[in-house]
Amino acid sequence: MKQTTDFLKMKEKNEKIVMLTAYDYPSAKQAEQGGVDVILVGDSLGMVVLGYDSTIPVTVEDMIHHTKAVKRGAKDTFIVVDMPFLTYHLSVRDTLINAGRLIQETGAHAVKLEGADEVIEKISALTKAGIPVCAHLGLTPQSVGVLGGYKVQGKDAHAAKKLLEDAKGCEEAGAFAVVLECVPKQLAEEVAKSISIPVIGIGAGISVDGQVLVYHDILGYGVERVPKFVKQYHSVNPFMIESIQAYAADVKNNQFPEDKHTFTMKEEELKVLYG
Ligand code: KIV
Ligand code: NA
Repeated sequence: MKQTTDFLKMKEKNEKIVMLTAYDYPSAKQAEQGGVDVILVGDSLGMVVLGYDSTIPVTVEDMIHHTKAVKRGAKDTFIVVDMPFLTYHLSVRDTLINAGRLIQETGAHAVKLEGADEVIEKISALTKAGIPVCAHLGLTPQSVGVLGGYKVQGKDAHAAKKLLEDAKGCEEAGAFAVVLECVPKQLAEEVAKSISIPVIGIGAGISVDGQVLVYHDILGYGVERVPKFVKQYHSVNPFMIESIQAYAADVKNNQFPEDKHTFTMKEEELKVLYG
């Protein structure tokens, strides 16, 4: 299993880091079999598996429940778990308690927090307490209300400068990596060059140290539309719906179950039963 120090070395050697989300036992097992370096139990689970409109309603309990299943499916992969909305803002004490539960109760290896500013001191406190932290800058979905929608961030020079400073702040606070979401490729490249910890991009172009995508998005599983930055490798949805339709039709038309799906009793036992 790769660890935080390995990710630093990968950046130095120009070896890309592969991160993918997983939310349950089978997706985690597939991610591990597929050879990803890091599994992210993202709070995007609120949208892709729980059906919420945003990540805001996701709770620590939700994250623990799903991360436990992920851990059972991927015992040999580094697992990062998202800290949900408002669980790392009230105080350093609350942040440590919540992160402690997310790590201790699940077996995950690190937590991810969105933003800089007041979050920097939390990154520092967590790292000092022995909990590896992945930062998350650019489009931070937990702030969708403040950002005014899911839009590309850091497009103007002023916002870009702030983002570069934030990335340095996260590194200085002890973060082992930064997820950088939905920013112009030139800015992402500059961020990756200006810090020594790996920058894992999503919608941030190719000149970063790794990529992360959502499991359901790359597989076309249960999702109707995907953002521009997603590469969909398959669309399993139609296969799944066709399979369910075929099952329903078989039941209605008395074509399932067949003999091969059926158990039988021996004749002699039937004789005893009915006389
Ligand atoms: O929750 C999530 O899936 C994420 C990634 C998109 C980076 O935070
Ligand atoms: Na997230």
